[in-house]
Amino acid sequence: MAADTIAEAKLLAEKITIVTGAARGIGAAIARRFAAAGSLVIAVDLEEPSELVFSIEAEGGQAVPVALDVTDHGMVERTIQQLAAEYAPCDILVNNAGIIARETIENLSHEKWLSVMDVNLNGAFNMCKAVVPYMQERKSGSILNITSIAGKMGDITASPAYGTSKGAVNTLTRSLARQLAEYSITVNAVAPHAVETDMSAEWSQEKRRAVIESIPLKRLARPEEIADAALFLVSPGARFITGEVLNVNGGALMD
Ligand SMILES: NC(=O)c1ccc[n+]([C@@H]2O[C@H](COP(=O)([O-])OP(=O)(O)OC[C@H]3O[C@@H](n4cnc5c(N)ncnc54)[C@H](O)[C@@H]3O)[C@@H](O)[C@H]2O)c1
Repeated sequence: MAADTIAEAKLLAEKITIVTGAARGIGAAIARRFAAAGSLVIAVDLEEPSELVFSIEAEGGQAVPVALDVTDHGMVERTIQQLAAEYAPCDILVNNAGIIARETIENLSHEKWLSVMDVNLNGAFNMCKAVVPYMQERKSGSILNITSIAGKMGDITASPAYGTSKGAVNTLTRSLARQLAEYSITVNAVAPHAVETDMSAEWSQEKRRAVIESIPLKRLARPEEIADAALFLVSPGARFITGEVLNVNGGALMD
């Protein structure tokens, strides 16, 4: 990252952000971007994202690696308590951890269906449930969920699992936005289409071409572009925005 990015306005100075699924892809880009904006980033993944934390520190930012499976609600509760005691309660939660399913209904096992719901939906719920009491007590906070275009228009791979989980997180976003508004807590989501990450790297050349053709801006998003939108939605400039599921999709869906 360029030094001038680190030197830019510290929109998140003094803030603590928890980012789940931070080891790579979109989560890593968000962690880097938020650290560059002055936040202490608690970088959560199944295994400690140590490499990411080293690179953030090398760029002059602050980050802490934490190993946590977001589907384990008992462990989520304990970890959030420990982190609040050691640092301070988080100001911002980014629910980014997610897994994909590509199987159509004939080939989709019950186990796969449940695992997608468990990470994408229950994981986001577990994290919200653990951090919200701290935010309510302080009457401030921002929650940002990384969902997907598939949550709005159904899954382009025609798997019922992934898009359904993301649609449910969109509804969780709006439900919490309504409930938590009286505490000045905002709850929003970013809904990307295809992003240049490990998830999209598995595609055949044919599928990649077809996806690009369907996007008016004629390319996939870079993870940093999702991070820019994420930063906006938790920044002071977005303080009157809540319950929004923001399309960051090159124009692939305009709603
Ligand atoms: N890549 C895309 O094209 C795309 C498009 C739309 C939405 N998204 C969403 O963006 C988010 C990030 O996607 P990505 O492409 O960077 O994915 P990725 O697979 O590159 O990274 C996901 C991260 O989540 C972590 N993770 C998985 N299960 C976890 C669990 N139970 N607890 C904690 N961490 C866990 C993984 O270890 C991994 O580091 C996901 O929610 C995904 O659904 C991605």
